Amino acid sequence: ALGRGALYSSEASAIKRVAVVGGGQMGAGIAQVSATYEHGVTLIDVNHEALDRGHAYMAKSLARVAKKKFPEEPAVAHDWVEAVLGRVRRTTSLPEGVANADLVVEAVVENIAVKQKLFADIAGAAPGHCLLASNTSSLPIGRIAEPLDAPTRGRTLGLHFFNPVPQMKLVEVVRAAETSEQAVGRAVAFVKSIGKAPAVCKDTPGFIVNRLLLPYMMEAIRLLERGVADARDIDTAMKLGAGYPMGPFELCDYVGLDTLKFITDGWFKEGDGLRGDKAFAASGKLDELVAAGHLGVKSGRGFYDYS
Ligand code: CAA
Ligand code: NAD
Repeated sequence: ALGRGALYSSEASAIKRVAVVGGGQMGAGIAQVSATYEHGVTLIDVNHEALDRGHAYMAKSLARVAKKKFPEEPAVAHDWVEAVLGRVRRTTSLPEGVANADLVVEAVVENIAVKQKLFADIAGAAPGHCLLASNTSSLPIGRIAEPLDAPTRGRTLGLHFFNPVPQMKLVEVVRAAETSEQAVGRAVAFVKSIGKAPAVCKDTPGFIVNRLLLPYMMEAIRLLERGVADARDIDTAMKLGAGYPMGPFELCDYVGLDTLKFITDGWFKEGDGLRGDKAFAASGKLDELVAAGHLGVKSGRGFYDYS
């Protein structure tokens, strides 16, 4: 590994080994896509059950991709899936998982205290040249990086993927106040290396996509609460009347209602420029579903029933 502050040739700065922390719907997707594009990947989660869920998610999604890639050749498709999965190592040990990484992407629960602790641990165990990235939907990258020393903050940034990761082409590359130009350049090169399109943006709440999507999703829930129409009709309206691929309730369930609540509660309480913004005020309906454990597609029930 290169030392801190070293100058890099493009070869030395290229990302080859990726560690993904959190094997949920996003982390598994990021690991899958990185492995698909020939990177060596380590997936890290808190226990073996979570890692197994991540593996199952990747296997299912890859089978879908393989069926289209090799429609007439099931044996070739099977071998291709196995080869991609073979590039993803799984571990519950964070220090071991990040020890050789060129890039760590964090995709754990949307909670600032958890992410700050994790970044401090990652910084203590990853090589000095490693990029530290968060897939956070809503938290300031600058705050996640607060516990780190200045050189490490220089190589910390946001890499914000979209759900479903294998299908959505965009990755927002979030430049915090202290992120170095070199780190942004390396991250942009990585995003292109996995067949995605980068959009570089500043570290403001919601970056680009979520700053526009979240008010829309919350207003849809309020339409429902006001009894304007039921969820099915609101979804049909936005799909057929506005050309959206999913209606807002399908999208809420897809994102995860816990994540939606973490995002909006956080912004309402302390989002830069958003504090007290009524667009993000708590919704009784959303709170009720989350309290009942109805988190959307991932738990089998949200606004709709998936069982
Ligand atoms: N893995 C692999 N392939 C997948 C997949 C997955 N998980 N999900 C879908 N696909 C593929 C399918 O195989 C299919 O491929 P072909 O068209 O080549 O046959 C294609 O995607 C379309 O899938 P479907 O026909 O099943 O369904 P669809 O046409 O309705 O598309 C969708 C599915 C791409 C998810 C589409 O509904 C969509 O774009 N929805 C909106 C998603 C969105 O807005 N995401 C952003 C959420 S916000 C976020 O992520 C940020 C945050 O921080 C909260
Ligand atoms: P998820 O609940 O599906 O997965 C979270 C995973 O993190 C779980 O497997 C959990 O066991 C693991 N985890 C929790 N604490 C950990 C720790 N300390 N170390 C290692 N693993 C840990 O959540 P998700 O939907 O994949 O979201 C993850 C992150 O991605 C969040 O920050 C979220 O805001 C962001 N994000 C979500 C979406 C979305 O549509 N769901 C889109 C973009 C970004």
